Amino acid sequence: MKRSNPIHIILAALAILATLCSCSQEKKYRIGVSQCSSDAWRSKMNEEINREIMFHPEAEVEIRSADDSNDKQIADINYFIKNKFDIIIAAPNEADAITPIIKKAYDSGIPVIIFDRSINGDSYTAFQGGDNRGIGLQAAQYARHLTKHGAKIIEIRGRQSSTPATERHLGFLQGLSEKNDMDIVGEGYGDWNYEESAHVADSLLNLYPDADLIYAHNDIMAIAASETARRRGLHPYVIGVDAAPEIGIKAVADSVIDATFLYPTEGHLLVRTALKILRHEPYDTVLYLPPSSAVDLTNADILLLQNESLREETSKIKILKGQVEEFWERHSAQTILFYAVIAILLLLAGFLFLLLRTFWQHKKHQKVLLEQNHLLEEQRDLQESLNRQLREATQSKLMFFTNVSHDLRTPLTLISEPIEQICGASNLTPRQQTLLKIASKNIRILKRLINQILDFRKYENGKLDLHPREVDFCTISREWAESFRAMARKHDIKLQITTGAIKSR
Ligand code: FRU
Repeated sequence: MKRSNPIHIILAALAILATLCSCSQEKKYRIGVSQCSSDAWRSKMNEEINREIMFHPEAEVEIRSADDSNDKQIADINYFIKNKFDIIIAAPNEADAITPIIKKAYDSGIPVIIFDRSINGDSYTAFQGGDNRGIGLQAAQYARHLTKHGAKIIEIRGRQSSTPATERHLGFLQGLSEKNDMDIVGEGYGDWNYEESAHVADSLLNLYPDADLIYAHNDIMAIAASETARRRGLHPYVIGVDAAPEIGIKAVADSVIDATFLYPTEGHLLVRTALKILRHEPYDTVLYLPPSSAVDLTNADILLLQNESLREETSKIKILKGQVEEFWERHSAQTILFYAVIAILLLLAGFLFLLLRTFWQHKKHQKVLLEQNHLLEEQRDLQESLNRQLREATQSKLMFFTNVSHDLRTPLTLISEPIEQICGASNLTPRQQTLLKIASKNIRILKRLINQILDFRKYENGKLDLHPREVDFCTISREWAESFRAMARKHDIKLQITTGAIKSR
């Protein structure tokens, strides 16, 4: 079985903690919105976007406004590209100027939704916007409803190179051509803003003071034209486009302008389309939002009331969302704390386990060592007893040899005496002399051997001193050989001693 390593336990605990910390409301999608301008209409749209995003906690949105500057909008979109936003939603300020940067984003693989204003070409993922031609058409029909046959009209267009200006103009022309009963006597570009429109309106009213109606492509330009006309003491009908509550509808309710046409914002649809694209769900590649009927004095107040209650609801939702977020944060903090405590407990358990294991191992080692020690002691005792037995056996043997040697010496002495006496006799044949010499010599050898055994005993008991003496090794060797000569002859063995020159020292 694999042993559970406490380091692994610790690492697992930390991993769990890290996962728990990181999974607190992770944002999966980042949506970049590039608005070409900042005004009441776009604020309404931004509010819708922000309201919708509240219902999609997995997504976050960053809205940037270019304030009518192409350069600023290019920089904003570049920022989204550089920061790897998942999707870009853009209302291009001017088609020609903004097309290349949109193409760059699209070509780099970032999905792009174009809304409100368009670009040249089709380098985008989806388009969503109001039906500007339809709005122009409705405006012409409403102008006909307000004026008499042969009415003179001044048209104040948006910015020249922004597509809604072209579309709203073409739609208006289409509406006029239905009956050919009204004339555009003067026209100019108000660039979607108050100052430019006031300036254009002033010059045109100067030329055409008898104009019956001013058609401005948005409400802010319509308000500028109306106020300019009134300053001149003129009271043409003025109609605009957008119907943003704070500006257009209010201007209608205050009778500053006569009518406005709702240019749908539908910011929530933009967010939904973006999320569909990101989740690879089916979506509308082109979505034209249909125009609604004109806003005039008959419905302006009710629309303002509706807008007011919508705002209240929105602020309530915001408060609720804030509370939910607060609760969520508190809950996340408590969850993290809870898991942190668990992780710490796991760590402690790990350390405790480590400690106990070390302690157990130490004890086990100690036991093994004691056992080994015990075994060694037993072996040592055995060894000692064996040694003792060996010593005793050796002693007994020695004693035996000593005793035997003692016993041998006496008869040997008794043999040697008569032999010595015979050796001294004068009537011996040489042969007899030789044999007696041999016998006498071997008796001496035997005596010496017995003495040596007895000396060994002394040596064992530490009573023998060493007395080295010089001998003639050749003579001794020859004497020894003599002892064996008779035996050798008997067995037909040739015994010969060869010695070199002896160097006397
Ligand atoms: C806002 C605005 C609106 C107009 C739209 C056209 O920036 O000028 O008033 O309807 O843009 O793109």
